[in-house]
This record gives sequence, structure tokens and C-alpha cells, in this order.
Amino acid sequence: MPKIFARVMLFFIILAPSLGASAFEEAPTLRDLAEQNDIYIGAAVYVSHLNDPLFVDILGSQFNMLTPENEAKACELQPRLGQFDFRNFDTLMDFAEEHEMTVHGHTLLWHQCVPSWLANGPFSRDEAIDALRDHIMTVVGRYKGRIAIWDVANETIADDGSGLRDTPWRQWIGDDYVELAFQFAHEADPDALLFYNDYNIESVNDKSDAVYAMVSDFLARGIPIHGVGMQSHMILGQIDPYGIAKNMQRLGELGMQVQITELDVRFEGEPSDQILRRQASDYRRMMETCLESEYCTAFITWGVSDRYTWLRGSNLGFFENPVVAPLLFDDDYNPKPAYDALVEVLTEYAGE
Ligand code: G3I
Repeated sequence: MPKIFARVMLFFIILAPSLGASAFEEAPTLRDLAEQNDIYIGAAVYVSHLNDPLFVDILGSQFNMLTPENEAKACELQPRLGQFDFRNFDTLMDFAEEHEMTVHGHTLLWHQCVPSWLANGPFSRDEAIDALRDHIMTVVGRYKGRIAIWDVANETIADDGSGLRDTPWRQWIGDDYVELAFQFAHEADPDALLFYNDYNIESVNDKSDAVYAMVSDFLARGIPIHGVGMQSHMILGQIDPYGIAKNMQRLGELGMQVQITELDVRFEGEPSDQILRRQASDYRRMMETCLESEYCTAFITWGVSDRYTWLRGSNLGFFENPVVAPLLFDDDYNPKPAYDALVEVLTEYAGE
């Protein structure tokens, strides 16, 4: 760098702020760049994490969408039949609205986080339909006009795509419980976008074929559905951008929005520099795939900091890596190469 230029730069770095000028514009956040690309950038949030000021600062500044990690699930909201507890969900809603973040409600139907009254029953079909309607009308109705998107059904399709998985609601009501949930949610808030959300449905495979068939059937019968959430719990190096793009396209051509709803990129062993570089590449490919699709409207990571990732939980069984670092910020909230990769690709596409 020529000496004169270095001196000028030094001037700006040292003196300019005292002259009231900001020597350099602050670096744009993920949120700034996502809004320039007209997509949501979101994160799953657990209410206890709001006690961490660093977490709060990053969440509010870097993201414009919030998904309650657990607070809107049935076992948390209606632990006893007819007795609702909205305190934690309300706390997250207040935070989101204070920070002008859009809320992605998660989830009205799921086979996990099942309250004992639902698991044990017993219910007649009509009693179970009444209980489902009451849960959805109470929950969706409470936040009418405040929650833009709801995961109405989460993971109701069997892993091999052969049909519906067995769940308590299905046991008491029958196979039409999913469409009933969409109808009740639409009745409770006609303006909310209603999504089906699942894992291993990102690329074209038997399970995503079953999702495509269900959406086609719902649309043919006038069941209100507006989008599909691809959870995207990815394993390092196993991303198929072409298959994901093809799947996004076919769902979009049905009139669906598509969202990446729970992205993390896990791996075995220590988070070495090489692994973190490969992880950054995987995040970049996922963001490119979303930005290239006219139907992809949100890019949501399942958490903010590696410190709180669900993947370190001891109850996972299928995958245990106590040092796994699947997210954009490390345990000390430092942005990782994956964060830098997203800033880079969002900047590239914003400039187009
Ligand atoms: O809040 C209680 C706490 O009071 C108690 O002391 C503790 C004892 O184990 O449990 C705490 O509840 C746990 C909750 O997370 C909050 O930490 C539940 O046991 C635990 O099962 C629950 O796990 C969540 C899991 O869904 C099941 O609901 C994970 O945090 C959450 O990341 C995970 O998220 C799911 C999505 O909803 C759907 N897609 C897959 C994704 C990962 O499994």
C-alpha cells in the first residue's frame, strides 16, 4: 500500500470519529443483508436464553425471525387438559415484538412433547376432535394477527414416506387429524400462513414425495396449507443443493412457500479449522439454494450459539458429540466461518 494512502487511512481511523464522522460504516448484520434479499433470517430460541445479555444482543441484531424452540408445544402450553400456561411463550412473543422480529410458531401437532392427558386418553373420536379444536383455537386464537406463520403439523409423515406415523392424535381421531388441524388453525387465524414441517424432506426422496402428495391432496380438497418447512438438520458434507432446489421448485409450483426451518450442520469429533471451513461451505450452499429459489422465504437456524445446541443433549441416542458446534456463533458468541460465509453470499446476492 503506497505510504500516502496508508497515512490517509490512519487519519480516518484515528481522527475522523472525533470529527463526528464515523470512519467506517458498521458492518451489515445478517438481518440487514437478509432484508436486502427479501428473506427472513431466523433462529430457534429457548426462553431461558433470554437471561444471557450476549445472546439477546446477537439475537435482536442479527435475526428478524424467531421460532420458539419449545414454548409453543402442547406439553408446554397445555400440560393438563383445559389448563394452559402461556407465560414462556408470551415472554418470547414480547421479545420478538420489541425487536420487530416475525414469529414462526412451532408447532401445533407433534408426536413428541405430548402431554400425558393426550397420550393416555382415552378419547372417543368426537371427544378427541373437540380437544384438538380447543387446543388450536385457544393457542392460535390467542396470538391472532401476531404470528405470521404456524407449523401446524410437524413430522406426521412416516420416515419411509409410506403414510402417517402413529401418534396419539391419530390414535384417537384417525388419519384425518392432520387436515382437521389445518382447518382449525385457519379458522382461528385466517391470515396466518399454515406450514407442514419435517426433517429429511429437503431433497427429492420417498418422504418428500409423500409430502408433495399430501400438499397436492390438501390443495385439491380445499384444505388450507401455504408452505412447507424443511428442517435441514444436516450432516457435514452431505448437502444436496440440486435435489433441494428441485424439491423447492416443485413445491413452489404448487403454490407453496418453502422455508429452511431448523438448519444446523453437525459432525463427529472436534470442530477443527478444516471442519469449520467445510461447515461454512455447507451453510453457504444452503443459503445459495434458498436465494436462488423464488419460493424460499426464510433461512432459520436451530439456535444461535453452539453453547445451547440441542445436539449436545445427552438424551439424543442417535447422535452424541459433546463438543459439536453446528451453528453460526461459537460457545463464546464469536461469529464462525459459517457466519462469514452467509454475510458474503448475502452481500453477493444483494448486489445483483
Ligand atoms: O424445561 C424442562 C426442565 O424444566 C427440566 O428440568 C428438564 C429435565 O430434562 O427438561 C426440560 O425440558 C426439555 C426441553 O427440551 C427444554 O430444554 C425437554 O426435556 C427436552 O425433551 C426438550 O427437547 C427439545 C426437543 O425438541 C423435544 O421437544 C429440544 O430442546 C428442541 O431443540 C427439539 O427441537 C426439535 C423441534 O421441535 C422439531 N424438529 C427437531 C428438533 C430437534 O429434536
